[in-house]
Amino acid sequence: MLTTAPIPSSSTLRQSDRDDPDDPDYRLGHKRRQQARRQDRKREAVQLLLERLPPFHELPLVSILLKTDTDSDTTNTNANSTSVIIEEEKNNEKNKKKSSTQLSDLYQPICRLDEDVTNEFWSKVPTICNPNKAVMEEKISDERDLMRERYRSDKYRRKLRKQMERGDINQTQVDKLWEKHGKRTTNTNTNTNIDTTEDTTEDTDTNKTNDNSQAKQQNFGCGSGNLCLALAPYFSQVRFVLVDKKSYSLKLAERRARDAGLKNVQIMEYEFSPSNLEDFCIPSMSRLSTMIPTAQHNDEHSTTTVQQQQSSSSSTDFDIAIGLHCCGSFTDMVMMIAKLRGADCIVCPCCNGAMTSETTCGYEYPRSSYVRKLINQDEYLSLLSRAADDLGSYEAKCFVEYDRALWANENGYNVKLLKLSPEESTPKHHVLYLTKQIQKGEEHED
Ligand SMILES: C[S@@+](CC[C@H](N)C(=O)[O-])C[C@H]1O[C@@H](n2cnc3c(N)ncnc32)[C@H](O)[C@@H]1O
Repeated sequence: MLTTAPIPSSSTLRQSDRDDPDDPDYRLGHKRRQQARRQDRKREAVQLLLERLPPFHELPLVSILLKTDTDSDTTNTNANSTSVIIEEEKNNEKNKKKSSTQLSDLYQPICRLDEDVTNEFWSKVPTICNPNKAVMEEKISDERDLMRERYRSDKYRRKLRKQMERGDINQTQVDKLWEKHGKRTTNTNTNTNIDTTEDTTEDTDTNKTNDNSQAKQQNFGCGSGNLCLALAPYFSQVRFVLVDKKSYSLKLAERRARDAGLKNVQIMEYEFSPSNLEDFCIPSMSRLSTMIPTAQHNDEHSTTTVQQQQSSSSSTDFDIAIGLHCCGSFTDMVMMIAKLRGADCIVCPCCNGAMTSETTCGYEYPRSSYVRKLINQDEYLSLLSRAADDLGSYEAKCFVEYDRALWANENGYNVKLLKLSPEESTPKHHVLYLTKQIQKGEEHED
């Protein structure tokens, strides 16, 4: 049942690593053997922990999560405009339901949009807001970052050339890899096909501010805005508030939004901790001033800043909380903020191994009271959440996110478990989509 990534185990090490003391690699082999044995032991311990769970089909939520939309749609009561990009892939669901035997089967791939819709979507995204094309745009990055990026790109290009000379990869593979990881800046080197596509967002209608926006999305841990700056031009009626603790990332996000002429984006600097979540959700006039530091240090011509000042009183008012790759416990904070606001929530969690008793921010793990009865916090932090990252245990990762889903369900949410498609794009591809199930005030306390 337990599936793990192919990490070399002690039994798969080369013979020379084992018993040839004259082998120059002997010492290295000894260390690798020890490390592999330690990993084997941890893997066994993780498996034992997972075996403490009741049989798969008796676990809470499993029967609901495996239901097809045609069977029942109780988990999707609050569809809105963004549902177009988070609809599940319905194909093969019925077959899956019958054969499902492990936690990973609970995660349905997010469906790919029709090619027409995809093309229309990307045609509205200005290059500066495109996550692949504008990471190190000269217009928005400072010289130090650009130099670092040029160095990285040059190094990567040399590496690819060497691999090709050795015959490990061919030109087509080089081109593919370079396309994916190489070209970040507009002046990295002359060999690359730097994309110089003109912006196609001249259509002013799509960028008009809409004060009667129906949906408001709050993007927590937005970084330099790779996710929501791509969504904002397409969903022009939605107001996106980008929040992060790093002013440097926010400056990049703001410059990108301004450069793209986006009027439906606001930027907010805020460092979340469990003790200030309520402050964030229930703003008072005195707190608001600390919530809009970008208004103090940004260029006065900034469209985002101006709008932020105008509507700061509603900056923390939102319908959907979004958290993409919010590290460790920060994902749990985002879910908690959504709960406090009575908002829906979409999170794609990040590194779980980063959670230790020092970094759990006082939150209890496992998150759900159901799993807490089966596994204690120490086992969870030292084995399960670490296995999800360090050992590449896919089942452990699925379990950690399933535990979060149970917490959400215990706190009044309908839950959908999804995964990014293609899942190979990142090992952190699990997505939790939570929609409010009950009225505010009925939630239980954490
Ligand atoms: C791994 S990055 C992901 C960035 C972005 N979502 C993306 O996927 O490109 C995590 C982000 O969360 C932010 N972050 C981490 N802890 C935070 C906290 N307690 N409050 C606010 N932002 C935080 C970091 O500054 C960082 O930008």
